[in-house]
Amino acid sequence: MSNANEKRQAGEAAIRYVEDGAIIGVGTGSTVAFFIDALADLKDRIQGAVSSSEQSTAHLKRLGIPVLDLNATGSLSLYIDGADECDPHKRLIKGGGAALTREKIVAEASDKFVCIIDSSKRVDLLGKFPLPIEVIPMARSLIGREIVKRGGNPVWRDGVVTDNGNWIIDVHGWQIADPVALENDLNQVPGVVAVGLFARRAADVVLVGDKVM
Ligand code: 5RP
Repeated sequence: MSNANEKRQAGEAAIRYVEDGAIIGVGTGSTVAFFIDALADLKDRIQGAVSSSEQSTAHLKRLGIPVLDLNATGSLSLYIDGADECDPHKRLIKGGGAALTREKIVAEASDKFVCIIDSSKRVDLLGKFPLPIEVIPMARSLIGREIVKRGGNPVWRDGVVTDNGNWIIDVHGWQIADPVALENDLNQVPGVVAVGLFARRAADVVLVGDKVM
């Protein structure tokens, strides 16, 4: 079961990675919300944030933290985000909040990815949490069939439209022994926008509550 106290500890502990004058990549979710709240106290010491979702953008703006365009900032020194699962190699499943595509873009653009989680997110093998995949709507059935061929059970997250205007398929029933290979494989299927596996670009640091994993 997820632990709100550990999420708050992780969000606040991530502040120690924020350097003066930096532009911070900011993820999405309830753990990141604690980070954003803590970041507000430092807002006069940073240039601003690059946001991974409309939800985080609204939160950042509400607290007076400037939200910057990744195309204008260039690469970032730091990205802070949560996860739905984290294995011992710091490889992640993300996308429970449907923000995986922009999260992946900002993670890729960042030198250091600090992932903030509570202990319920730690697993030995990824896949108990259904793997989110963002898809172009017209490719939903095609991609569903490709997932079935690979032994997964695709479930359309009906009613959810991503910030990019796309849909989410959650894949149940995969025990993901080789997440890099699966990520690369799924990325080749036409219509896949992003796979919620962060294995090719895993986290660099994981904070479980206020402890470094
Ligand atoms: C959103 C995500 C989140 O980081 C993930 O769902 C974890 O969320 P929370 O911190 O609320 O448990 O990937 O797309």
